[in-house]
Amino acid sequence: MYLTRKTFKRIASLLCIGISASYASAQAAECEYVVSNEWGSGFTAAVRITNNTSTPINGWEVSWAYTDGSKRTSGWNASVDGNNPYTATPIGWNSTINPGSTVEFGVQGTKGSGSAQTPVVTGDVCSSGPSSSSSSSSSSSSSSSSSSSSGSTGSTSSSSSSSSSSSSSSSSSSSTSGGGACVCNWWGHSTFAICENQDSGWGNENGTSCIGEQTCRNDQSPTSGGGVECGSSSSSSSSSSSSSSSSSSSSSSSSSSGSTTSSSSSSSSSSSSSSSSSSSSSSSSSSSSGDPIARVDNPFVGAKWYVDPVWSGKAAGEPGGSAIAGEPTFVWMDRIGAIAGPADGDGLGLRGHLDEALAQNANLFQFVVYDLPNRDCAALASNGELRISENGFEIYKNDYIGEIVSILSDSKYRELRIAAVIEVDSLPNLITNLNEPDCAEANGPGGYVDGIRYALQQLGTLDNVYSYVDIAHSGWLGWSSNFGPAVNLIGDAVGDLGSGINPISGFVSNSANYTPVEEPYLPDPNLQVGGMPIKSADFYEYNNYLEELSFVTDWRNAMVSRGLPSNIGMLIDTGRNGWGGSGRPSGVSSSSNLNTFVNESRIDRREHRGNWCNQSGGVGYRPQAEPHAGVDAYVWVKPQGESDGISDPNFPIDPNDPNKQHDPMCDPFAQNRYDSQYGTGAVDNAPHAGRWFPEVFKILVDNAYPPL
Ligand code: BGC
Repeated sequence: MYLTRKTFKRIASLLCIGISASYASAQAAECEYVVSNEWGSGFTAAVRITNNTSTPINGWEVSWAYTDGSKRTSGWNASVDGNNPYTATPIGWNSTINPGSTVEFGVQGTKGSGSAQTPVVTGDVCSSGPSSSSSSSSSSSSSSSSSSSSGSTGSTSSSSSSSSSSSSSSSSSSSTSGGGACVCNWWGHSTFAICENQDSGWGNENGTSCIGEQTCRNDQSPTSGGGVECGSSSSSSSSSSSSSSSSSSSSSSSSSSGSTTSSSSSSSSSSSSSSSSSSSSSSSSSSSSGDPIARVDNPFVGAKWYVDPVWSGKAAGEPGGSAIAGEPTFVWMDRIGAIAGPADGDGLGLRGHLDEALAQNANLFQFVVYDLPNRDCAALASNGELRISENGFEIYKNDYIGEIVSILSDSKYRELRIAAVIEVDSLPNLITNLNEPDCAEANGPGGYVDGIRYALQQLGTLDNVYSYVDIAHSGWLGWSSNFGPAVNLIGDAVGDLGSGINPISGFVSNSANYTPVEEPYLPDPNLQVGGMPIKSADFYEYNNYLEELSFVTDWRNAMVSRGLPSNIGMLIDTGRNGWGGSGRPSGVSSSSNLNTFVNESRIDRREHRGNWCNQSGGVGYRPQAEPHAGVDAYVWVKPQGESDGISDPNFPIDPNDPNKQHDPMCDPFAQNRYDSQYGTGAVDNAPHAGRWFPEVFKILVDNAYPPL
């Protein structure tokens, strides 16, 4: 029945091609197909539906067909049926297209004869006559990309919430950095655009949306990809990536010696300094194929970072989201099935992402390894598919890590630097949560240590992979009673991986958490207020670290003292720890009451510091290389807008990950698990972990700091 109705609608919509000119459609969306990239036998394209009317479009269905033998192989942000013609429908969150806004979905495919074809997109929503477009932004489209539009006019409306071409003032943005003026033209695919504004960081160009534009990054020549033109100093993408690797020798990895594993009491900003820059970079060892790849000290320096088009499309579709949609986020391999990608081809697997990274001419790809047996042993929201008691370790080795490593070994990816975050929250659970049976089991054979060592050893055979092991965050391991044991356990787990295996590149903190990089008004945890150190306030509970920066600095020093290479670097997930917005304090409190002083001064506005699920944080520092000595990069590990866990205790099962459950910490009406006098602070109506959660995305964007 359903299929029949769909087929009928498809045929009907295709028939519209012939008659559309003679009657005005009820809707007036512009439907466009834009080839974003093509190479050898493949291509990617974006289909954009722009609502040029003054009323929202609720639900849409569009179709297209190739006549040259091209085939769609996968895509993102739409549910696609059929096999030439193809018919796309929304995937829930992108069903409504507000006036002036654009919904965009992606197509990846193989080409027929010749260059990538640009078929006409048809559908009931697509208008054909002149529209009432309020187009104020001119000529957004342009020259270099090939596109076809079955919509009303060539010009498009401008909308701040729009995802796409329509909002960009496009064509030539210029940047004077990188040794030559860059003139950057419309690149053809808005969500692949990467923008830089020298004044305010990534994402925005002179206060207008950057989506649809690409400017030249200051530390490399722009790539040759679609339509970007550069001034005199331009060079090819391959030479840009090799020059960028050599530029990394001055990297972040400075070491301050002297601090020891028991240094947690020295705390805070004290230990950051002494920058003796290590130059132990560029060693090269055997590689799985071809010539050795030169390893760099800090893979983030001078790199062109991959932008996940799936996340980017979703972000751009949310109000205000275009300000961050061009930023690089991590891709999570959160189950074996994620490696191949969704069975229906809607979404990208690991290869799809890597191919897309090549198509973007990126040379840095970031992903998370996240499928240990007994995963998330002390919580429920992200329980995984593998169990130690059900042969989980063998499956992890063979079907998960083995599969990932086999794909990464493909020689076509060898020029990509691959930054891997290893198993979020796992080893920290072995420090503090052994009273949980799942964690106790994970502390034994075939558990977390064995799994992580196996992952590091396998990934360590590839010279272009850079592994960063997760160390939770300061609000978890910051007490000296946790810090010291964690240094020992994690230090042992990651050390001595074997001869010929690359050591880890460092550690990552705050993955998917909300702890700020700095507490600008509380720089000294030992400052006395009312006769007590501020770390003794209720919010900090005598934790030595109030922020990530001092925590990771001391962690790095402790690890180097323990024998890890002195050029290891730290990553901090800054995706959601900005804590801006109207509630952000603007100075230090004048209260003499300890708790009042702390509560009025701290930017971390969680009700309780242990709250981890769907908090009302804010987008933090934009991804950037070497922001501080010893810090390789600020990164966005947890993509904004993806839920931390489902809020409803009577939840439906997630078909992707049937083991994910409801954790009371995700229920806004539950008590805090760690201290029942507090709530959870979780935002209500949350879907399962990893699923798109627009409400929380909006909060994060609204509370961004630095502001967007
Ligand atoms: C979830 C993963 C998801 C990741 C990123 C985790 O909490 O368990 O499934 O991929 O967050 O959103």
